[in-house]
Amino acid sequence: MNRIPPLDLTRQYASLDADVSAAVLAVLRSGRYIGGAAVSDFETVFAEYIGTPYAVGCNSGTDALYLALRACDIGPGDEVITTPLTFIATAEVICRVGATPVFIDIDPTTFNLDPNRIAPAITPRTKAIIPVHLFGRPVDMTAVIAIAQSHNLVVLEDCAQSTGAMWAGQKVGSMGTVGCFSFFPTKNLGACGDGGAITTGDEAIAHRIRQLREHGQSERYIHTQTGLNSRLDALQATILAIKLRHLDHWNQQRQAVAQRYDTLLAQLPTITLPTAPPSGQAVWNQYTIRVADPQGDGSRRNGIQAILQDQGISSMVYYPRPLHLQPVYQHLGYRQGDLPQAEQAAAEVLSLPMFPELTPEEQEQVAYGLKAALAVHQAKP
Ligand SMILES: Cc1ncc(COP(=O)(O)O)c(C=O)c1O
Repeated sequence: MNRIPPLDLTRQYASLDADVSAAVLAVLRSGRYIGGAAVSDFETVFAEYIGTPYAVGCNSGTDALYLALRACDIGPGDEVITTPLTFIATAEVICRVGATPVFIDIDPTTFNLDPNRIAPAITPRTKAIIPVHLFGRPVDMTAVIAIAQSHNLVVLEDCAQSTGAMWAGQKVGSMGTVGCFSFFPTKNLGACGDGGAITTGDEAIAHRIRQLREHGQSERYIHTQTGLNSRLDALQATILAIKLRHLDHWNQQRQAVAQRYDTLLAQLPTITLPTAPPSGQAVWNQYTIRVADPQGDGSRRNGIQAILQDQGISSMVYYPRPLHLQPVYQHLGYRQGDLPQAEQAAAEVLSLPMFPELTPEEQEQVAYGLKAALAVHQAKP
């Protein structure tokens, strides 16, 4: 039995081994490990790729969001509207700057925040919206930007899972006030360690982020604000610059994998397949199906996942508990049932193996395994 992992980074690395090894050795021999041309060159090509005048590297996607919030002066007393179906980092940074996350429900067909729910959640304290382009699928940015403009709100795009995705002809990360990227190894553009970047068209914001990421210094050893140490190092920047040249090709391979799943799984009962966005393109960081779960507790989905695992097929649940129901946010006063679409999605989502190098044969094995699992766990009304 072939084991199928949720993703396999060794296959991608094998195709880059010669280029990356040589470039990494050159950095090691240069003795310049922090800052320098490797980082500024990557920032230049990344800004060009996203389509913004500025890109600033930092230590992680989490720090990218944190630095962006700080640079946009979001702080105590402010509210930030976001989605409950995302990785904890999105909301964590809102709290770290002293602001309050306001969770709105998702659109069940896109898994992204439902733009129609933004306006009713706006209060006099609302300062920003963080749309998360989840699983590689762009949020309807036309709608988000229109609401933000009419209420004078900052938009921080969380692009961690969507590098290269587009909405209405524009790359994610180029439409909001800032775009925040993660280069965690599992992302579409992944480093060989941690890394992140912020993109923006606002020179003052870019300038402020450059200061904040280096201990808030305006000039050497003169500190004008409380910052942090959040640098993208030269080794990661070098590796990322090489990988960026391949990103469009890898994203096309992901699109081909998604299309093959669409065909293979089309006839399977009681599951819902993800759909492509009506405008722009998804880059399929995840291919996430819904497994109908009438009980709403995830038990059917979990049973199916276990059977897949028995057949050597790894799948993932992103995310089993929406953020508004996390213990850390108990003080915000949300209750089960407050955001029903996100809660139902958390009980039903199942992300199948997805990476550019996944083979058609492996996908057939996934489809075969899923069919067998669905036959065991038929949905009871
Ligand atoms: C939606 C989202 N936002 C933010 C992050 C944080 O990125 P990092 O892990 O690089 O800090 C992640 C990473 O998993 C993510 O998926």
